[in-house]
Amino acid sequence: MHTKTELPKEQRSSSLLRKVVKVVRAQARSDGAGVRLKRSLGIPELDYLDPFLLLDEFKSDDRDDYIAGFPDHPHRGFETVTYMLAGSMEHRDHKGNRGNLVAGSVQWMTAGKGIIHSEMPKQEEGLMWGFQLWVNLPAEAKMCEPCYQEFTPQQIPVVEREDGARIRVIAGESAGTLGAVTGIATDPLYLDVSLPARSRFEQGVPSEHNVLAYVFEDEGEFGSTPKEQGKTLGPGNLAAFSKGGRVCVVTRDSAVRFLLLAARPFGEPVARYGPFVMNTEEQIRQALRDYREGTFLD
Ligand code: CO
Repeated sequence: MHTKTELPKEQRSSSLLRKVVKVVRAQARSDGAGVRLKRSLGIPELDYLDPFLLLDEFKSDDRDDYIAGFPDHPHRGFETVTYMLAGSMEHRDHKGNRGNLVAGSVQWMTAGKGIIHSEMPKQEEGLMWGFQLWVNLPAEAKMCEPCYQEFTPQQIPVVEREDGARIRVIAGESAGTLGAVTGIATDPLYLDVSLPARSRFEQGVPSEHNVLAYVFEDEGEFGSTPKEQGKTLGPGNLAAFSKGGRVCVVTRDSAVRFLLLAARPFGEPVARYGPFVMNTEEQIRQALRDYREGTFLD
């Protein structure tokens, strides 16, 4: 007699390898007072991947591309995450908080009910390279008190594998190593993954979370399964994945470096206008009124 053992449905989806369901190419944008950057999320091709709202990469050794920086501007209703690879950026807010984001450091800012801040280059020349990610907040947390988590390069745990792979764990967990950033509403994973040629990387992710990868050096195959080859992605490509419990990336003749991001979606309505991300148009109008009338931070 032949009996087939079926795994419970939950277990099946949690062991399932995710496939790439969408690839977008980053688009050139200018933001702040004229900073040139590449936007791969928050563009018409991919407006929102709940709870991720926006992903920018800025990279230039031409001072004219970054020197104008991001002078005083507000945020309400979400979180901004700045991760620097090269150069240094000074951050100041309306409460007198001040920090210098150097290469390899991360700042996870929960804007909540409101922050007015500036993000300005602290260098006159040389390479400036980094990322800014926007993560939505659930309705109940949109008007929370603002707060920061900031970590120096040395405070970010690194997984170093024998084959040369290197994973900086900014948030979440990889290979048993816990990330620096904790206590975030959407339970995010934020990894900076460097893989050598001819290697393989697998990362477990909660099956209900949304997952994306953004490649910023060289190329690799994303979403490989035992039956199907993954999609080859290079610098400036962002991939969104299907549901499943694991993500696999393999490399052939080339190394690859990418961000791997995952978080819990919360399926609430999104009303966004510039630096304000709320649930309704009325809340956006309120944010604009509060900002104009100077009651934004009360
Ligand atoms: Co800002």
